[in-house]
Amino acid sequence: GSQQAEFKQRIKDLLVRENAVIVAHYYTDPIIQELAEETGGCVSDSLEMARFGRDNPASTLVVAGVKFMGETAKILSPEKRVLMPTLEATCSLDIGCPADEFSAFCDQHPDRTVVVYANTSAAVKARADWVVTSSIALKVVEHLDAQGEKILWAPDKHLGSYVQRETGADVLMWDGACIVHEEFKAKGLEDLKQVYPDAAILVHPESPEPVVKMADYVGSTSQIIHAAETLPNKQFIVATDQGIFYKLQQQIPDKEFIVAPTAGSGATCRSCANCPWMAMNGLDNLANVLETGASEVFVDQLLGEQAMKPLTRMLNFSA
Ligand code: 13P
Ligand code: SF4
Repeated sequence: GSQQAEFKQRIKDLLVRENAVIVAHYYTDPIIQELAEETGGCVSDSLEMARFGRDNPASTLVVAGVKFMGETAKILSPEKRVLMPTLEATCSLDIGCPADEFSAFCDQHPDRTVVVYANTSAAVKARADWVVTSSIALKVVEHLDAQGEKILWAPDKHLGSYVQRETGADVLMWDGACIVHEEFKAKGLEDLKQVYPDAAILVHPESPEPVVKMADYVGSTSQIIHAAETLPNKQFIVATDQGIFYKLQQQIPDKEFIVAPTAGSGATCRSCANCPWMAMNGLDNLANVLETGASEVFVDQLLGEQAMKPLTRMLNFSA
């Protein structure tokens, strides 16, 4: 309504005043994605967010997503001010991989190349040889496997086992999962496929193995959108956070998108496949941090310098 319009205008003014740009993820509220697009920011997957933040000339980045995305932006651009609508927005993968335990795990396996998913803290990244996002995990591990390297992988076991199955690499796995994608169910997906036999199934690789195995295409959020554009199908069943439907419908209006079933799915399931931390990003807190400078992201200098190496390796690899 009019309050929303007021917030949007205020944010637009503040972005100019603060020389700031919005870096948003596809899982955030459509209103945030729209605003990012209207103001020269980006809406993308986590790899492109990292690249955009690093390369954009604005002196302040407002990262609308979850904590690891803000930290990654800060690590790659220590000279920029990085704000987030809230610092409370974390990720179950990050929570499930405490740096001290992870470091001890690495110490026990010094013969392995440490590959960590971007959904981790700066301290965990600081311990890694490589950081990867879902869009390039396969290619990086393929490359390492071809060099005869054994992998220590953390923290997402579903993405890790997908990569292991596809590459045949020797992968030792941390036991972590995404609470959103873990809820997708193969049985429900089979039933839905009966209703939409011509639909292609698009799956984010944080989903459990039986779901990934049913997929016509497996990839990151950006890759899922690209697949929906390029595959000939007119209908798609999509196993990832519902936030992605905004972009799918906007970019591909002549196709139909159906959310994949989760454990609690039913007629009234409004919060299914919806990351509770991504949902913490709103117009109100975004406006507030721009106004006050609150919720600034800081990363310990030494950890940041260490984490920058595997992050830069990732960006160079995918360039
Ligand atoms: P993408 O890199 O595919 O955007 O994934 C990030 C994420 O948090 C998925 O849950
Ligand atoms: Fe983390 Fe899952 Fe939320 Fe992505 S959707 S931020 S992996 S909890």
